[in-house]
Amino acid sequence: MKKPIGVFDSGYGGLTVLADLQKKLPKNDFLYLGDNARAPYGSRSFDVVYEFTLQAVQFLFSQGCELIILACNTASAKALRNIQQKYLPTIEEHKRVLGVIRPTSEIIGSITESRHIGILATEGTIKSDSYRLEIAKFFPDIEISQKSCPMWVPLIENQAYNQIGGKWFIEQDVMKLMAKDPAIDTILLGCTHYPIVAEIVKEIVGEDIQVITQGEIIANSLVDYLHRHEKLAKKCTKNGETTYYTTETAFDFDKKASSFLNKSIQSTHVIIS
Ligand code: DGL
Repeated sequence: MKKPIGVFDSGYGGLTVLADLQKKLPKNDFLYLGDNARAPYGSRSFDVVYEFTLQAVQFLFSQGCELIILACNTASAKALRNIQQKYLPTIEEHKRVLGVIRPTSEIIGSITESRHIGILATEGTIKSDSYRLEIAKFFPDIEISQKSCPMWVPLIENQAYNQIGGKWFIEQDVMKLMAKDPAIDTILLGCTHYPIVAEIVKEIVGEDIQVITQGEIIANSLVDYLHRHEKLAKKCTKNGETTYYTTETAFDFDKKASSFLNKSIQSTHVIIS
């Protein structure tokens, strides 16, 4: 049986992380699941995000995954801890589920010089305060300002971010973040959808401010994790193949996914509830 590395996102955003994982680990098999039918997760409650994420994790385990990356910040913020501390120890002791907030937090201190950073993310991620809590563990000296961007995921999923109205929403949120702390020198795009609008954000803030996306950070962290967990790394199969599943219709997924990956793919529809 194939044992791919599972990559989960509420929708298309995780494809931006998957692309970097494939680049860094070209021999590994991956299984991507997008819960497109129920996205966005950004404004959903803790309980609902946990329930949906657990269903996704159970599906990925049923497909042979021993290791899963929750590529979704919102799921990492709202569901990961319970899955790691309550679900895995009792049901799937030897399997592992990892998130994206910790690896990003571990590295952010080596990027900022002013020690003032800004975070743009979904409402759920910002309200959970996960980044502030996690970053404080590694870099207590860093000043953090945050702004939720509830319109960005719908704009990206519907490919409306490049239109005048779409750009207006993006600019408003970026300016509101910068107004909170003009000393910000680093903006973290703390949502896997946001790399799609990274160039627009860069244009707004100018070149003195670094705009950070997560794909490469997560990929480097996974490579390091696999080095440190040889037994698990050996279990993961290596045919260089990726399989795609979506809870929406496969036709829609394939069409939109190609704009995230810059290549065409074929997915399979699945019901996970
Ligand atoms: N891509 C997800 C994240 O990284 C959120 C998108 C959504 O709201 O579903 O937070």
